[in-house]
Amino acid sequence: MKVLNIVGARPNFMKIAPIHRAFMKYRDISSKIVHTGQHYDTRMSGIFFSQLEMPEPDYFLGIGAGSHAQQTAGIMLEFEKVIYKEKPDLVLVAGDVNSTLACALVAVKEHIPVAHVEAGLRSGDRRMPEEINRIMTDSVSDHLFVTENAALVNLKKENVDESKIHFSGNVMIDSLLYYFPEIRKLNIPESIGVAPNAYVLMTMHRPANVDGTEGLKQILEIVKELALHKNVVFPVHPRTMQHMEIAGLKKEFENIAGLKMLQPQGYLEFLNLTLHAALVLTDSGGIQEETTFLQIPCMTLRETTERPVTVESGTNYLLSRPDRKDVVKLAEAIFAGNAKKGIIPALWDGKAAERIVSVLREKYINSYVCGN
Ligand code: UD1
Repeated sequence: MKVLNIVGARPNFMKIAPIHRAFMKYRDISSKIVHTGQHYDTRMSGIFFSQLEMPEPDYFLGIGAGSHAQQTAGIMLEFEKVIYKEKPDLVLVAGDVNSTLACALVAVKEHIPVAHVEAGLRSGDRRMPEEINRIMTDSVSDHLFVTENAALVNLKKENVDESKIHFSGNVMIDSLLYYFPEIRKLNIPESIGVAPNAYVLMTMHRPANVDGTEGLKQILEIVKELALHKNVVFPVHPRTMQHMEIAGLKKEFENIAGLKMLQPQGYLEFLNLTLHAALVLTDSGGIQEETTFLQIPCMTLRETTERPVTVESGTNYLLSRPDRKDVVKLAEAIFAGNAKKGIIPALWDGKAAERIVSVLREKYINSYVCGN
């Protein structure tokens, strides 16, 4: 059985690493990695390969930055050549980035089955590029691996054949648990001069929050206010940095006493910062899950979440109208020890990749050997 695993952007690496590792346990599986190059710098890509012990990709498509159409179409043209050469039995994609959709589309048109890991999540907000990527990828996938019950419900509502859906758990948590001893050993707060458990960790990069001056100004006001209470540690995504510069707000951010702006962090470093945060403020998808697992309070500055279990059972709060006063009021309650106590969702147990590989082996190897 030959599988091509697709990685492209930062959130893919920690999802594919445990799956590739699980495939590699079997001699009858050839597991190859295709990197589209959607993310290309050391800080957004290279460091994840080394920290997550992933081999050099078998193919690097070198696509880089561009508009959605340029990125998606560019990946499709290059990935088609790989498909012709490799003739895989399966293409495995994860998450909701442009690379996910582009490769799924190429595969399905060449009649290659597609497995989608982290299927069925829906924010209900079609203005998010990721939502379009999720819907389209699920609709062409043959095997849909879900992380939470809401995703099951969504797929059933969309009339997806139930035999295609598998509740496998969360591969992102597989990586977190696998590397937890190393994450715990680090002491990043000390190395950047903030006291553990007494700072707010912030990430912000969604187009709706950072692509316009108005959104960035709102974030600026929130940070100014929070930094009066606690240090704010902010690893800045390249997209956010570009837009701060375009909006002429970079200096204003830099001038906030108590705000520490950092380069994008490595996987282990970022999770060490998460582990020791008093509060995480984010608009990321994956960080909502990682904070729920680590039981760290998280405030998500978005109107919707495609990961409702993190709000319903976990430690996540959704701030639908990110108003400075609401954010600060809730933050104060959390600092005073009144954060909700979450529980860890079902099957977020470090074994999701093994479950995924065993479903796929059953379909592609065992049933073939038995002549079914
Ligand atoms: C992408 C994903 C988003 C994911 C995020 C994680 C889509 C539609 N979006 O958004 O779902 O949460 O990755 O990071 O796929 N850049 C660099 N260095 C890099 C990568 C990007 O400087 O290594 C710059 C690019 O030049 C570009 C900007 O960052 O101008 C945005 O990159 P892009 O991949 O288009 O989207 P993200 O905002 O990162």
